[in-house]
Amino acid sequence: MRVLGIETTCDETAAAVVRLTPDGGGQILADEVMSQIAAHAPFGGVVPEIAARAHVEIVDMLIERALAKAGLGARALDGVAAAAGPGLIGGVLVGLMAGKGIALATGKPLIAVNHLEAHVLTARLAANVAFPYLILLASGGHTQILAVKGVGDYDRLGATLDDAIGEAFDKTAKLLGLPYPGGPAVEQAARTGDPERFALPRPMMGRPNADFSLSGLKTAVRFAAEQAAPLSLQDVADLCASFQAAIVDVVEDRMRVGLKRFRERLGAAPEAVVVAGGVGANLAIRGALARFCAEAGLRMVAPPLKLCTDNGAMIAWAGIERLRLGRVDRLDVAARPRWPLDPKTAPALNNKA
Ligand code: KG4
Ligand code: ZN
Repeated sequence: MRVLGIETTCDETAAAVVRLTPDGGGQILADEVMSQIAAHAPFGGVVPEIAARAHVEIVDMLIERALAKAGLGARALDGVAAAAGPGLIGGVLVGLMAGKGIALATGKPLIAVNHLEAHVLTARLAANVAFPYLILLASGGHTQILAVKGVGDYDRLGATLDDAIGEAFDKTAKLLGLPYPGGPAVEQAARTGDPERFALPRPMMGRPNADFSLSGLKTAVRFAAEQAAPLSLQDVADLCASFQAAIVDVVEDRMRVGLKRFRERLGAAPEAVVVAGGVGANLAIRGALARFCAEAGLRMVAPPLKLCTDNGAMIAWAGIERLRLGRVDRLDVAARPRWPLDPKTAPALNNKA
């Protein structure tokens, strides 16, 4: 089984081909990603109109290149998967329409993939993880802790009430004059900083639910920066290190509660603890989760950095996971700016999910 995956929900245009191997794992035959970071950098964040236009300009070429690298014609595919949301709707439409066009022309099934589900299932592409598992899904638009019970079967144990973790990194970077995207820049600066110089809050720590709230932390960074101004390079490094240390503490505490809720709800321990989404590239956060897992005696899975940030392989893999269960979509399936993974709990919390 070989599936094409198309990703255009945010600021990366991506196309990939993944093959289902006989042992149930995935083999990436081609994985093409083009980032629009340079186009958005002058604005300090993603500009939806610019993103949609950039996707239109390159998506066909990327798909052709992915098929060529995989050594396949479109007719040799078993399915076409495209991210159908959640995300910036102009961009989502571009990728979904491209996918529909190929599915229509070749007569192959279309799989309209939830971008969040693709992040969640990537652990099974990267490491063949069995269900159920506990996952921290943290990116620029989403922060949730989920019990992953099966394909399409997710319990949300906690989520952010305001900013996503990646968003908090991006806003902190902007405030300190660091480049966009902020996550890698803050992490880099934090390496030479003193994490104890600024006493920043750890919002929600100790609360019995597994939710996050990060806007207060962001405000505290702003106050600290204003008080220390004018900022030297060392001040910026210390602020980044202090901010990252606060995030790490919060993540560890929230995951501890998440694990407790997982055990209560499922009556079993998770097969693994997984970190996914762009924030999963952060080595301090990975390190904290590794410690947490070691203490709890659980297997920790962090997909390779390239599979943590947005990519086409994760969409193709989610397509395979659904296709092998016969869950394909009609060609009139709609693009969705919002698309919660767990409809039971979604409306009450983070509306970005
Ligand atoms: O999953 P992703 O590529 O796109 C979304 O769906 O949002 O995640 C991008 C987010 C950005 O907010 C970025 O700043 C953050 O992930 N990020 C990081 C790191 N690398 C990327 N955050 C913290 N540390 C990093 N090393
Ligand atoms: Zn993403």
